[in-house]
Amino acid sequence: MYILAIDTSCDETAVAITEGRKVIANGIYSQILIHKKWGGVVPSLAKRAHQERIDSVIDEVCVKFLKTGPVRNLLPTNARQDLRVVGNPSDSATRLSNVMEYIDAVAVTQGPGLAMALEIGIEKAKELSKTYKKKLIPVNHMEGHIYSCFAQNSAGKPELNFSFPYLALLVSGGHTELVLFKDNVEYKVLGATIDDAAGEALDKAGKLMGLGYPAGPAIERLAEEVGNKDFYKLPRPMRQSGDLNFSFSGLKTALLYLYRDLSVEEKSKKLKELSSSFQEAVFDSLMIKTRKAIEKTGVKNLVVAGGVAANQYLRKKMRILVKEIGGTIEFPKYKYLNGDNAAMIGIAAYFKAQKNMYSEDLSKIERVPRMEL
Ligand code: KG4
Ligand code: ZN
Repeated sequence: MYILAIDTSCDETAVAITEGRKVIANGIYSQILIHKKWGGVVPSLAKRAHQERIDSVIDEVCVKFLKTGPVRNLLPTNARQDLRVVGNPSDSATRLSNVMEYIDAVAVTQGPGLAMALEIGIEKAKELSKTYKKKLIPVNHMEGHIYSCFAQNSAGKPELNFSFPYLALLVSGGHTELVLFKDNVEYKVLGATIDDAAGEALDKAGKLMGLGYPAGPAIERLAEEVGNKDFYKLPRPMRQSGDLNFSFSGLKTALLYLYRDLSVEEKSKKLKELSSSFQEAVFDSLMIKTRKAIEKTGVKNLVVAGGVAANQYLRKKMRILVKEIGGTIEFPKYKYLNGDNAAMIGIAAYFKAQKNMYSEDLSKIERVPRMEL
């Protein structure tokens, strides 16, 4: 079954066509350059960029699907004639209707995310679903991130079968959660951040130190240059809390005080040491709670996803942990799957379709900015 999926939850306009766990065509327009100068995502600008881009990202995915997808040899001649991305609007309308012939359902991120941004994807999904008479599958963005670890390329690689239950650590700019992934489409949230998300903490620390937005990748590079060591011994908030929740805002304040008292010269001379210590404090907190969750649940198969899971040093720490306990670990296998994308939404939607979790009434699908798993 082919699913056309859309995600506009934050600052990527993302569209994909998936078949089961296979990603057949994928398109992402990143708005990073638009938000960079503001040091974070500006909802109204995100909304406008989604509006301006969504049709062209859909068209890009349609072109990829028609050119490289499994249906390329079945196409009517008129559909093969013009597969340029930049064509006149009537070309893209024809392409879309040709592609929709093969699509079985439309999937869209319903939440969590920025209300203004979510709205654009949802409206588009409803429009496609109505025009082409396709069922609609609403998806939680976080279940998408979980399924990103099980995505395959169009040739079905890697093969990897599920081995439930999993303990999922979801770490992104908006979320930090530990989730028990019991079976397909069955989740239980075990803990979450009570204030900032891990990625948000890295971004705020980066902003303070003038590293630009998003700061996660810059901090990773700087920390690596000084061996990922802990120089300043920043606090590990909620270490002893006994539960599986996280907190990062106190850590950010600790860095702020430390940084404020340094001279201008020290600030630039110690940038790597500060970055490394901050990253270590964030990751150590993730490790402490993940370890605790493994002890509490007895589940040793891990899934780590979300933008921060792109970090190679975090991956290394996690791999060492599972080796020690004799468990397994899955990360997203392809780079684009770490950040926000619609492929993961299409894959989650496939498993929802297996359980008949379609939306009965289009008018009832509304954005849910604080949607929970
Ligand atoms: O999942 P994502 O793309 O968007 C959200 O749903 O939030 O995550 C973005 C977050 C940002 O905070 C960014 O700084 C962080 O992921 N990030 C990283 C790395 N790449 C992106 N954090 C640490 N190391 C990285 N290499
Ligand atoms: Zn995300």
